[in-house]
Amino acid sequence: MKELIDKLYKTQTLSPIEFKKLIDNRSPEILKYLFERARAVRVENYGYDIYMRGLIEFTNYCKNDCYYCGIRKSNLKVERYRLSKEQILDCCTIGYELGFRTFVFQGGEDGYYSDEKMIDIIHTIKSSYPDCAITLSLGEKSYDTYKAFYEAGADRYLLRHETANEGHYSRLHPAGMSLENRKRCLYQLKEIGYQVGCGFMVGSPFQTTDCLVEDMVFMKELNPHMVGIGPFIPHHDTPFADFAAGTLELTLFMLGLIRLMLPTVLLPATTALGTIHPKGREQGILAGANVVMPNLSPTNVRKKYMLYDNKICTGDEAAECRFCMQKRMESIGYHLSVSRGDHKSIH
Ligand code: 5AD
Ligand code: FES
Repeated sequence: MKELIDKLYKTQTLSPIEFKKLIDNRSPEILKYLFERARAVRVENYGYDIYMRGLIEFTNYCKNDCYYCGIRKSNLKVERYRLSKEQILDCCTIGYELGFRTFVFQGGEDGYYSDEKMIDIIHTIKSSYPDCAITLSLGEKSYDTYKAFYEAGADRYLLRHETANEGHYSRLHPAGMSLENRKRCLYQLKEIGYQVGCGFMVGSPFQTTDCLVEDMVFMKELNPHMVGIGPFIPHHDTPFADFAAGTLELTLFMLGLIRLMLPTVLLPATTALGTIHPKGREQGILAGANVVMPNLSPTNVRKKYMLYDNKICTGDEAAECRFCMQKRMESIGYHLSVSRGDHKSIH
């Protein structure tokens, strides 16, 4: 197994059979070896700086019905909210003062925010904070819409592919959503010029090792600037309420593999990772991640953006999360960076 990790480190790729062998035969010893290598690669590319992104969850309305997600449209128990342009700007003002230089706008697929409305918001924020990067996470849109958002000033786009296996994709999503369209979006975003992020949940229902292997193969092909992965965590009001959560161990292992396969990728230690273990985000960094995304959403809406049960930070103010994160990163010898934190290829 160590030879396979060395091979991945040296050549930045493995065959599907090799990936499968590595994932299926992992052991505590192999994890330790992988994480040491992954940290070395991360340090080589980004030093001990951890980039932070302010996450603004601006709407929990969604027209989609993904079986895993707490804010799916069929969940009638969710109290829905939308932030106004002014509320969004207030989040950025608070965030800027706290040192955030990237704002991530994330929401359900909500038709209320027309292209015109989004363009106005993007444009206003970009003019108010020209030294900040804008990341969008708004789901599937047309090429023209993506292009218009980019021209309005958006820099980056996050769209997790969720799984690169067709059959698995159709067991996580109702008819009408397709992996094919998801991939189309990701390639178009890249073509337009965005820094692009894909990603998936670890341990989602029906996921097999082969699915994870396909995720690795797909990510190698797409060559994204960012990859967001976290454990699946059941939400009690979804069809997947009774499935087990993904494990810390496998999530960390996948983070390490991704760091070796895509050495310069921007890789967050996600909130979901922090939810399944009190030190999950720290362990994510120690497995090769280099980004954290503290919540900047107004405190009064946080509990309403529950994609999964027991999500952390839903009772904390933006400043609390910001300084909590700084302490957490310093506790493991890392430094929370006040910069845009672009992908290495951008400099
Ligand atoms: N557990 C973990 N992650 C989830 N997401 C949605 N629902 C869940 C869940 N139950 C992730 C999806 C989505 C991102 C915004 O959150 O991967 O792309
Ligand atoms: Fe939110 Fe620690 S990061 S409270």
